[in-house]
Amino acid sequence: MSESITITDNRTGESIEVPIENGAVDAGAWKKFLPGTWFLDPAFGTTASTESAITFLDGGNGVLEYRGYPIDQLAEKSSHLEVAYLLLNGELPNESELSAWNDEITHHTYLHENYRRHVHDAFHYDAHPMGLLTSSVAGLSTFYPESKDIEDPENRMHQIVRLIAKMPTIAASAYRFSKGLPFVFPRNDLDYASNFLSMMFSIAEDDYVPDPALRRAMEILFILHADHEQNCSTTAARVVGSAHADPYVSVAAACAALYGPRHGGANEAVLRMLAEIGSYENVPAYMERVKSGEERLMGFGHRVYKNYDPRARIIKDAAHDVFKVTGQNPLLDIALKLEEVALADPYFIDRKLYPNVDFYSGLIYQSMGFPVEMFTVLFAIPRTVGWLAHWQEMLEMESRIARPRQVYTGVASRDYTPIGDR
Ligand code: SDX
Repeated sequence: MSESITITDNRTGESIEVPIENGAVDAGAWKKFLPGTWFLDPAFGTTASTESAITFLDGGNGVLEYRGYPIDQLAEKSSHLEVAYLLLNGELPNESELSAWNDEITHHTYLHENYRRHVHDAFHYDAHPMGLLTSSVAGLSTFYPESKDIEDPENRMHQIVRLIAKMPTIAASAYRFSKGLPFVFPRNDLDYASNFLSMMFSIAEDDYVPDPALRRAMEILFILHADHEQNCSTTAARVVGSAHADPYVSVAAACAALYGPRHGGANEAVLRMLAEIGSYENVPAYMERVKSGEERLMGFGHRVYKNYDPRARIIKDAAHDVFKVTGQNPLLDIALKLEEVALADPYFIDRKLYPNVDFYSGLIYQSMGFPVEMFTVLFAIPRTVGWLAHWQEMLEMESRIARPRQVYTGVASRDYTPIGDR
């Protein structure tokens, strides 16, 4: 039995055999055999938009690997910048490569003074940080016009370094602006996670150093959120990048997609949901509303994982280390009860709905002192690495501009009707 499918056009009786390679069938064969007949696949539920060597997901078994390395090993043993190097270059760095990479990022964390001093002037004090971040990242492209030369690998990497380095600075500046607090400059003596926490939370402390348990939790959360193959925001980055737009506006497009509550906005929505439920006793009534379709159980379900999201398990464990320092988040009991009820209820079991990366992360963020509005920003910072790794891979693949077809269901052709006759 050959690894292939046979397509027969019953109108002509003609057939073609198409090999199944790497779990996929090449649509090009279909295009030749049936020109003008499209596969209709809204939301790309069964369509592979590209080949990629960056991240592997096995949704049925809850497996996630970055360049072949299991996510739990990276979360336990690596750092966010080491994982960034891995995702971008395909291999873990040796000591000198990692040291040079860390230095490179550390020395690109500053923002142009025009930008730092004035970017927030156009916004209300209570502007949502994701709106600030999305527009700020797009605005960065105006400071680096050379970034349009997307064909030059060295230039690409220079912009990638700038974006990875500056995202925490932009994120922290949005938070400080919303609190009416002075901007905190990046420091070169701190690692990536510590520097971000310093820019977020230090108050008149030139020697601020975060609690080691909180620093480690931040690092683990960055690693877990760094990439996730062709999710909605990465697809947005690849689509915009395929038009040969510069990396800043491609990442801004990805930020916009991530902002949606079905995607990266879910961690913020989970905390609002837990607060709305309010108490352990209210869980059963809420779950009935979910099953009747009135509510969604935010932080549950996934297009790919039909098993426990491996990241959710790691985050749940990391939460205990954080709570030892901050005290237990009072909403944890409600979250644990929701999970217990959902994992035993046929509605969720039948639909293979399990906790995803967003279900527990917000509890940690809240306990660490981040306001709910910052949660999706905390997703965008590390995911910038994944967006850029895919943007780079797409350009290296000699890809064509993304331009799907459609099935037209509108009215047939007709003549213009003069207004008097309408
Ligand atoms: C992220 O793609 C990625 O990899 C994303 C991400 C990443 O790292 O980039 O993993 C990050 O975005 C995680 C997902 C965060 N979003 C949420 O937690 C929001 C709540 N979840 C859902 O909205 C939903 O599960 C999605 C959007 C995540 C997935 O949607 P799908 O694949 O389109 O699934 P679906 O809407 O077709 O649902 C299938 C069924 C439906 O029921 P029926 O119509 O068959 O009766 O499951 C139900 C849905 O109603 N369902 C839910 C549910 N999620 C799906 N019912 C209640 N609560 C939910 N959360």
